[in-house]
Amino acid sequence: MIFAPDAMAGRTILVTGASSGLGLAAARMIASCGGKVVGVGRDQVRLDAAIGGLAGEGHLARICDVSDADAAAALVGQASSDAGGLHGLFHSAGEGLILPARLTKPANVQAVFGAAVNGAFGLVRAAARAGVMAPGSSLILMSSVAAHRGRAGMAAYSAAKAAIEGAARALAVELAPREIRVNALAAGGVQTPMNDRITANLADGGVDAYAAAHPLGMGRPEDVAAAVVFLLSPAARWITGTVMVVDGGYSA
Ligand SMILES: NC(=O)c1ccc[n+]([C@@H]2O[C@H](COP(=O)([O-])OP(=O)(O)OC[C@H]3O[C@@H](n4cnc5c(N)ncnc54)[C@H](OP(=O)(O)O)[C@@H]3O)[C@@H](O)[C@H]2O)c1
Repeated sequence: MIFAPDAMAGRTILVTGASSGLGLAAARMIASCGGKVVGVGRDQVRLDAAIGGLAGEGHLARICDVSDADAAAALVGQASSDAGGLHGLFHSAGEGLILPARLTKPANVQAVFGAAVNGAFGLVRAAARAGVMAPGSSLILMSSVAAHRGRAGMAAYSAAKAAIEGAARALAVELAPREIRVNALAAGGVQTPMNDRITANLADGGVDAYAAAHPLGMGRPEDVAAAVVFLLSPAARWITGTVMVVDGGYSA
């Protein structure tokens, strides 16, 4: 274990996308550091299995499609009262998309902005209300190096992640008086079910070329989870409004 086993003791963290990939890895690391998790996803069976497998006790599973911003806001308010307060939020839920611009329709853009951007605004609307997040809380919004580096077919996805980063900076300033920090986390290619779905559609050699663009190789979900736990922890108390890049050197 990279962190002390009590590094997250006494903290309850809401994690969207907790049933898979980066959200699941973060939920596991938070729990194994003594924190409590309110895990969010849309598929009850998958979410229950993920939350049921976490270390420790007192974790909660909540079904919500966070692309509905009003539902996401209601979720945070209710989760805070159910859990006796929240100390952080990791918004990992999101959809990937690789599609040439000539084929990208409004519904595609809406789908990729839905969970990531609408969800972020819904979650933060509730998190910004008095009494929902404890002072010293940390909000982490999941971005991607796609917001910084262009790749063919990634316009809608890159735009959604760029939106997240802009929002995180402004929110950091707005919520600082409430002692709430807000950061974005831009990951490179990490081996998750989303990555598998996306790379399955790449042309021959595309997967190897993408992996080779990462000097340290493709990431593991735990590589991102470690950055999440750091940003959630008091060790990051003076870090807000940043985009932390965790990408194995992809954008170096
Ligand atoms: N993997 C990478 O290489 C990579 C790189 C950079 C950034 N990211 C970003 O990291 C985040 C997580 O990606 P991942 O690779 O972990 O994906 P993943 O394995 O597909 O997991 C996505 C999670 O989000 C949940 N989810 C999706 N849409 C949702 C919605 N509308 N409401 C609630 N939950 C929803 C899914 O559960 P349900 O389907 O049950 O709802 C699942 O738990 C995304 O924002 C992605 O853009 C990933």
